[in-house]
Amino acid sequence: MLAIAIVISFCVGLYMTGLNMSPTRLKLYNWHKWAGVVILLLSTARLLWRLTHRPPPLPESTTGLQRTAAHAGHGVLYALFFAVPLAGWAYSSATGFPIVLFGILPLPDWVPKDRELAETLKGVHKWLAYGLAAVVVGHVLAAFKHQFVDRDGLMARMGVGRQ
Ligand code: HEM
Repeated sequence: MLAIAIVISFCVGLYMTGLNMSPTRLKLYNWHKWAGVVILLLSTARLLWRLTHRPPPLPESTTGLQRTAAHAGHGVLYALFFAVPLAGWAYSSATGFPIVLFGILPLPDWVPKDRELAETLKGVHKWLAYGLAAVVVGHVLAAFKHQFVDRDGLMARMGVGRQ
């Protein structure tokens, strides 16, 4: 669910910034922001779950280097699950466009309206989002390698094919 929401948010983000100013672009900007806030809520729930539930052990055959890479990769993923939407939220506030979640619930601005800050945050949001995309692709490729090359059943740990 979280992975699908992030992939859709990323694609909508890329697409909407290429559009000319139009009601469609404005609508997509709002959907993008709302999806981003939902991702923030899902990431919080996911992190709380992870902190209170020990994950299944990695396969015996996993090397020390692979274990370190796996833990580091997961840590970076969790950090970006929060940093990307929070940077987007801050950028939106700095441009003076407060978020009204689903058009109903106004969310607080946690940075001041500031043109220069907005320009900086726009770049931060963009490059963090591209970084998240890169880490997600690396994560998926690593999972496929374990599943189809090492055949160590690691993807069962992610719930794929778990009995
Ligand atoms: C995990 C969630 C999110 C992802 C993956 C994501 C990804 C992206 C991407 C890829 C872009 C296009 C960057 C570019 O190429 O210029 C973008 C733009 C944008 N995002 Fe997000 N975003 C997320 C959450 C949010 C949130 C929570 C907000 C605000 C509340 C937000 C506000 C924006 C805005 C305003 C732009 C347009 C920037 C411009 O005008 O160039 N994003 N986002």
